[in-house]
Amino acid sequence: MVKVITYGTFDLFHQGHVKLLERAKKLGDYLIVGVTTEHFDEARGKVNVVDSCLERVENVRKTGLADEIIIEDHAGQKIEDIQKYNIDIFTVGSDWVGTFDYLSALCKVVYLERTPNISSTLLRSSQFQIVKVGIIGTGRIAARFVAEEKYVSGMNIICTFNPEAESGKLFEKRYGIRTYSESYERFLDEVDAVYVASPNETHYEYARAAVVAGKHVLCENPIAFNGRDAEGLFSLAEDSGVVILEGIKTAYCPGFQQLINTARSGQIGEIRDIEACFTRLANPRSRECTDARFGGAFLEYAVYTLLPIFKLYGTQYQDVKIHSIKREDGLDLYTKIDLMYGQGMATAKCGVGVKTEGQLVISGTKGYILAESPWWLTKKYKLCYEDPGKTETFEPKFQGDGLRYEMSEFVAQINKNKYLLTKNEIVAMSEITEIFMEERMRSGK
Ligand code: CTP
Repeated sequence: MVKVITYGTFDLFHQGHVKLLERAKKLGDYLIVGVTTEHFDEARGKVNVVDSCLERVENVRKTGLADEIIIEDHAGQKIEDIQKYNIDIFTVGSDWVGTFDYLSALCKVVYLERTPNISSTLLRSSQFQIVKVGIIGTGRIAARFVAEEKYVSGMNIICTFNPEAESGKLFEKRYGIRTYSESYERFLDEVDAVYVASPNETHYEYARAAVVAGKHVLCENPIAFNGRDAEGLFSLAEDSGVVILEGIKTAYCPGFQQLINTARSGQIGEIRDIEACFTRLANPRSRECTDARFGGAFLEYAVYTLLPIFKLYGTQYQDVKIHSIKREDGLDLYTKIDLMYGQGMATAKCGVGVKTEGQLVISGTKGYILAESPWWLTKKYKLCYEDPGKTETFEPKFQGDGLRYEMSEFVAQINKNKYLLTKNEIVAMSEITEIFMEERMRSGK
């Protein structure tokens, strides 16, 4: 039996792909098709792939041409596969001529003529518009957003809005981006989408007005202080046909997705406990430490710590309890959120005035995953078992300060819905924020 192997991304599956697979199949008796993971594509610099790995695998499967489909997730895997599957022929399209000659030491290498005038790149560019983005707020985060723009294709930052004209002007001078301060409507007229990076208590109103004006919204967290408002924003967005996304950067980082997939894969058995902790001793003069109404540990970091919990257990918790250590003026220096699910429990801890290791531990019936601080960037995590000799360490790719992944996701969603953070998760986070805010109001501080 002659065994053939071929690899590809197979994004926006097209005729070029079908023709390649047909000819690859004819080269032998058994065809194995390797489909790349998002993670591997990103590592190769291909960051704008539209279809998820699962969708791409499904499209290859539907052709009925592949006898076996495998996942390609790291450089060097081709050599491993050729040996492991006893491959006779390796084949890819003629755009790769020469690149894989080194494999001829292991098997025959065949470059098939590429089908002219069609490619995923062409399809992507004809489908997509360049999104004109306006930033609301001109503080620290806005500056970081501007710095990351060059790594994200498909978006252009064209203006900012800040009602405080003076600080807006400073930003304009520094970054050469036009700033509006008088009329929010005029600013909105200029853009297709906004990034809300203003103070916490203004997020919701800005986001709402933008959605009503038919603009896509990427909103820094917290998007709202209660579940109702968050839910309302989503129905408004649905009515206006726009995307709304909460800026919880961790959710979009490739490493975090890999970690969640590892946890879901069953390698640690059934998940029974999750402990997610995020503390940062903030500058006493910063907004986090001075604003007793809208600052503090919970509003700063809780969504990050809730994220792995909702991703793994879902949003239907049975019970939630929130405890805080507060300063005299009511600002929470340290907050602990305990969640109970049927067969699992979870704790989310965040602090601006208490320092801990800040780790993420996902414990299962067979082992656990440990990601040390800063796990929210997910550059590294370990898979551990009773037998320490079996520990595996993962070091996913992570570039810049991570904001670029969130920005890419925003553009990807505007162009074609692809949700890494779901509406249910965002609304559930706002509901927990509501419980916290009610307690803050009740205690009269
Ligand atoms: N291919 C082909 N003819 C085309 C496009 C792709 O024969 N017109 C082949 C490629 O050479 C490769 C396989 O199909 O062997 C999978 O290619 P992939 O990179 O997924 O597709 P492209 O359309 O080339 O994607 P991109 O534009 O993102 O590079």
